[in-house]
Amino acid sequence: MQAAPMRIIFCAATDPQPWLEALRQEFPQAQLAVWHSGAPPADYAVVWAPPQQFFDEQTQLKAVFNMGAGVDALLKRDIAPQLPLVRLSDAGMGVQMAEYVCHALIRHTRQFDVFEAQARTGQWHEPVPLERAHYPVGILGLGVLGERVASAVAALDFPVLGWSRSPKQVAGVRSLCGMDQLPAFLAQTRVLVNLLPLTPETENILNRSTLSQLQAGAYLINVARGRHVVEEDVLALLDSGQLAGATLDVFRTEPLPPAHPFWRHPRVTVTPHIAGRTMLPETIAQIAGKVRALEAGLPIEGLVDRSRGY
Ligand code: NAP
Ligand code: GLV
Repeated sequence: MQAAPMRIIFCAATDPQPWLEALRQEFPQAQLAVWHSGAPPADYAVVWAPPQQFFDEQTQLKAVFNMGAGVDALLKRDIAPQLPLVRLSDAGMGVQMAEYVCHALIRHTRQFDVFEAQARTGQWHEPVPLERAHYPVGILGLGVLGERVASAVAALDFPVLGWSRSPKQVAGVRSLCGMDQLPAFLAQTRVLVNLLPLTPETENILNRSTLSQLQAGAYLINVARGRHVVEEDVLALLDSGQLAGATLDVFRTEPLPPAHPFWRHPRVTVTPHIAGRTMLPETIAQIAGKVRALEAGLPIEGLVDRSRGY
């Protein structure tokens, strides 16, 4: 008797056709479907922020593949405890994050923001160069993306520190870990890069108290989640001068509301959650490799530990 074809279901608020075509290339024999209420049961799901109804109805899943690195939206759902949840591990996001953070860092430390403002009014003025030794870069979260960013920044000869839950060994990066070492990490950081997952432990971690422990005239680069940041505290610290500026990719409310003060703040740069985009070819290649491994009974990387929240 022939084995039943594998069933894969897609559930995300994006055009499903390119995703289904790429899955079809990987699994020509599979039954592929876009989820709708009442859709037949599937074996594997490829999702981004699915509704609760998806999990209420899809009760035969063997694994769920999240189309991103962060699983905070997924973990808001009530999901059978034994169902494996798999997140993206890099999948083309690491290099984008490295580009984004290095761009924001260099724009600030080489004063390109100053030159852009001067150019608008035709001014020729050479400010005193900043010394990179005076701009230690602290990276919150030394996971898949944080490590890639830390290595890229270290390659530019900035002093680099990383903070994570467990100790790390990354060339050119001083590793600090745990809540005990957070104050030492903050005190030695001038440019703070956030690449933590959003969990109950990390929500609101960037607030008046923590940001005040950074070196004076600090610069904030948030590429993780908006809910890590107490936004009114950032605005107050920009006004006081404790923060020299910020580049922010993520916000508590997205899209950022038109009246939000971040849009018009002269020292805040805003981007629309594009620091590390989900790339279709790399994502499907990674998911397909993991589906094959699971079908062969092999272990896979990127399983979400629900007790940790990432
Ligand atoms: P990851 O590999 O899971 O790394 C997470 C890092 O955070 C790990 O080093 C972990 O420490 C550390 N961490 C977690 N909780 C901690 C805590 N309570 N205290 C100290 N350290 C803690 O995640 P990733 O793939 O690098 O992604 C990071 C985040 O980036 C995602 O969760 C997502 O929110 C965000 N993101 C944003 C975009 C965008 O476009 N803006 C794109 C992709 C991802 P251990 O290593 O010791 O466990
Ligand atoms: C995007 O924000 C992701 O988590 O991949």
